[in-house]
Amino acid sequence: MNFHIMTLFPDMVSNGLSESITGRAINNNLISVNTVNIRNFAGNKYGHVDDYTYGGGAGMLMQAEPVYKAYQSIIDNNNLADKKPRVLYMTPQGTPFNQRMAEELSKEEDIILLCGHYEGIDERVLEMIVTDNVSIGDFVLTGGELPAMMIVDAVSRLVPGVLGGEESAVYESFYDGLLEYPQYTRPEVFMGKEVPKVLLSGHHKNIEKWRYEQSLQRTKERRPDLYEKYMIEHEENR
Ligand code: ADE
Repeated sequence: MNFHIMTLFPDMVSNGLSESITGRAINNNLISVNTVNIRNFAGNKYGHVDDYTYGGGAGMLMQAEPVYKAYQSIIDNNNLADKKPRVLYMTPQGTPFNQRMAEELSKEEDIILLCGHYEGIDERVLEMIVTDNVSIGDFVLTGGELPAMMIVDAVSRLVPGVLGGEESAVYESFYDGLLEYPQYTRPEVFMGKEVPKVLLSGHHKNIEKWRYEQSLQRTKERRPDLYEKYMIEHEENR
């Protein structure tokens, strides 16, 4: 699976993703992260890619042309003209990203992610190239790099082979749609606090029951919205 990231800060993205599990996935050729510096497509010798907004208002806007040229270079250099890959624009005005979207995206061969800066990007180029507007939450960041890295991470871990045997169990959680139950490792007693007895019992049915109840309780407390949804979808548990 190939991620193509259009950004003004390519090092931020490639350095961040070269660590940990995404780094291992890159080294094992399970994913590739190809950053394209939008500044390389500036139409002037100063490397400026931004300008004032028509109609006034605070801040600068990224211009259409360097963004379009950067996009075209990705299409040309990777023979993507016929494939029409999805182009995700990172914006607080997008659809909130979630696990379902990560699962859907993990089936794509190539994904282009566009990171904005300043006050945003000229609408015309967005209309021409963007297929999905994606937000990572109701808050405003200084740029789209962190959102893009988050999406690459969430999608990559669903690509077969990216998670090792032990890690994949976490994703294949039985309790779909609920938050995970609490977990413990050695020692059995830490500063007087004991590991719940049932987990030491070796009784798998009881352990499973306990974890399910913990998941339900945690979801009800922390994410009543998810809890409601789960209960509606699992009427028989009421
Ligand atoms: N760029 C700035 N803030 C963002 C957000 N919340 N989600 C996606 N892209 C962004």
